[in-house]
Amino acid sequence: MNRLNDLTGKEWIKETRSWYTINGKTRNKEVIKHPAKYPEELASKYIKFFTKKNEIVFDPFMGVGSTGVAAKNEKRKCYGIEINTEFCNVANERYGEENTILGDSRDKKLYNFPEGVDFIMTSPPYWNILKKKRGNSDSQHTKREENNLKLYYSDDLNDLGNIEDYEVFLKELTKIFKNCYKILKQNKYMVVVVQNFRNSDGKYITFAWDLVEKITKCGFSFEGEQIWCQDDKQLGIWGYPSKFISNIHHHYCLIFRKNA
Ligand SMILES: C[S@@+](CC[C@H](N)C(=O)[O-])C[C@H]1O[C@@H](n2cnc3c(N)ncnc32)[C@H](O)[C@@H]1O
Repeated sequence: MNRLNDLTGKEWIKETRSWYTINGKTRNKEVIKHPAKYPEELASKYIKFFTKKNEIVFDPFMGVGSTGVAAKNEKRKCYGIEINTEFCNVANERYGEENTILGDSRDKKLYNFPEGVDFIMTSPPYWNILKKKRGNSDSQHTKREENNLKLYYSDDLNDLGNIEDYEVFLKELTKIFKNCYKILKQNKYMVVVVQNFRNSDGKYITFAWDLVEKITKCGFSFEGEQIWCQDDKQLGIWGYPSKFISNIHHHYCLIFRKNA
């Protein structure tokens, strides 16, 4: 009866609440090199909901392989693309196989899945925010700086996190979701983890809303969002005592479907 996943009805219902809290665990010294990973628990939640055992998961922004590790733990197969050599090596080492290709996800030739994939789970660069000092990331930023850890992904011009203009960034990012649309099987899902954020000039950028518009233009239908909350992050008093400036401690997990 259940064509989507291996969950019971009770387990299914629990997963459909529109918000939840997941706090990242401390990561090892290889994984911590990456400045913006998501927890494996987050990827597992969606992999278990949107696939059955042995199905194929894909991540076009593999980073240090959180999606791959989660898929392996849940007995699914996973493939991905990552542009940064160091992150790509960590991802492959963690997965235990060369499941992540080193390259630019805009390159159509890298999408070699004649039978298609069953689920796409990913999180793109949030424009170039890692390169800019903003109020709400400062404490995290300063801690990483003190520990000599990478503050942004790379200086590679093909890394989408290095594009200066927001509209150009969205256009280039959309090319990747067009590639994703082609390889996703009919009636299957894609989850994209993003945030709205404040730019360094104080302007609030509605990245999540903008991306929904772009991704639906690739052919996907938007099925709604779940809000991933983090309640272990330090609060800053950025606007006090004259202006409202929120501490952004949540991300949007945007859910899309490729309808037959
Ligand atoms: C938000 S991170 C993904 C992190 C990943 N979910 C994890 O937990 O490790 C975005 C990743 O996209 C990569 N990236 C940026 N531009 C890319 C491109 N054109 N093609 C492939 N990967 C790219 C960055 O190097 C970075 O690792």
